[in-house]
Amino acid sequence: MKDAIDKILLPEAEIRERVAELGADITAAYAGAEPPLFVCAVLKGSVVFFSDLVRCIELPLCFDFLSVSSYGDGAESSGQVRILKDIQCNIEGKHLLLIEDIVDTGITLNTVREMMLARRPASLKICALLDKPSRRQAAITADFIGFTIPDEFIVGYGLDYGEKYRNLKDICVLKKEVFGG
Ligand code: PRP
Repeated sequence: MKDAIDKILLPEAEIRERVAELGADITAAYAGAEPPLFVCAVLKGSVVFFSDLVRCIELPLCFDFLSVSSYGDGAESSGQVRILKDIQCNIEGKHLLLIEDIVDTGITLNTVREMMLARRPASLKICALLDKPSRRQAAITADFIGFTIPDEFIVGYGLDYGEKYRNLKDICVLKKEVFGG
């Protein structure tokens, strides 16, 4: 697996430190409010970040999971957002926080946000570990952002290429010859 890696962009320790800071920020933002509903917005990529982040939040929160896919097995977005698994909770009147691994074109999250807003939550905020603003096509900004990153093809810490590399501890740049870039 390591043969396919060009370099480490964000090492495990740096991610851990930033996730703890995000957890503290979110804890402060929701303190005193009704317990929020935390939705792991886009399985499968978000699951590693989600599971680390929720353990850094000191609130009586609820979990739910949404599976949406727009990328298939390739490196480029198809632009088509497919709902694979909906959340189970009724979010009307609830504070909703969508947890996402990466906002790239923003098409996925923008679609998910519209879908959730139609269900009339009391509030909707977004936490994204990674933000790639140079690739944005949809007008969307996360409320909590871990790292703003350059336009490189990254894998690890939940992110894949062709369903591989999700279990890498660091966030790494994939070698161009691997994805044909
Ligand atoms: C990836 C990633 C984000 C989305 C971001 O998901 O996890 O959810 O793409 O891209 P965008 O901002 O350009 O829409 P993907 O569809 O690859 O599924 P996965 O989470 O199962 O890897």
